[in-house]
Amino acid sequence: MQIVSDIHTLRAQIKVWHQQGLTIGFVPTMGNLHQGHLSLVKEAKQRADKVVASIFVNPMQFGAGEDLDNYPRTMEADQHKLSTEGCDLLFTPTPEIVYPKGLDKQSVVDVPQVSEGYCGESRPGHFRGVATVVCKLFNIVQPDIACFGLKDYQQVQVIQTMVEDLNMPIDIVPVATAREPSGLAMSSRNGYLSDEEKAIAPALYQNMQWLAGQIQDDDDFIGLTKQAINKINETGMKVDYLHVVHARTLQPASEDDKELVILAAAHCGKARLIDNLQVSLA
Ligand code: PAJ
Repeated sequence: MQIVSDIHTLRAQIKVWHQQGLTIGFVPTMGNLHQGHLSLVKEAKQRADKVVASIFVNPMQFGAGEDLDNYPRTMEADQHKLSTEGCDLLFTPTPEIVYPKGLDKQSVVDVPQVSEGYCGESRPGHFRGVATVVCKLFNIVQPDIACFGLKDYQQVQVIQTMVEDLNMPIDIVPVATAREPSGLAMSSRNGYLSDEEKAIAPALYQNMQWLAGQIQDDDDFIGLTKQAINKINETGMKVDYLHVVHARTLQPASEDDKELVILAAAHCGKARLIDNLQVSLA
């Protein structure tokens, strides 16, 4: 696996692959890789001739007081995992390479509507940072396809909308959430959980599954959501948001909607867990 941190060298390799008629699959990450990230690499390998991954802890998507400085950085272990998975090239730029003018003088990408609410509301500016860095990475790597985890459901909708609105010739491939045997969605931030918190964290997904079952035969989405929030808060977690929404627009679900998603975020000790569950109503 080649490891490249400058844009010029990366572009030269991409040009060679394009000239050879090879397709490129891209997996952007912030590192501290687990099985969820690696499932994206597997998917990209099946769909493209060459796989490029990136590891970049993107300062633009972290708010003041968030965990930018403490975000787990495990570059050596990550390199080993990617190379074992058959990744062809790893791009590891520094913030100076990605944002040579600094964050304030950088052009940005704002994706309206789907960026609003949920994580967009709890983390102002987060999705502007995500869309901007992914747009830059797409322009640098020029992939044919790019894989994103459904674990970050709103993020997938933001990227998909950006690609459609800005006519980017890239297929976005959503990949199912990888979970621990307990049902807890794998996340780099699970490393912040104590043993005691690890024992209660699966209650988030369990109560989302309970809610998914209830809304199959009862359209009182708001009342049932309140019950689920209470059940989760009783475990010692603190729900940030829990909503039943339309799967594509992310607007609050109405009785006529059939394709829904339950979006949730909850604080568990120092970790902020997010999860979602897609529900098709009969
Ligand atoms: P990061 O949190 O490192 O996640 C990188 C990719 O892995 C994202 O597409 C995310 O949805 C996916 N992923 C994380 N946990 C997963 C799981 N349990 N199952 C399946 N996929 C999972 O998301 C980001 O980084 C950043 O916002 C990024 C897109 C790289 C832009 O900076």
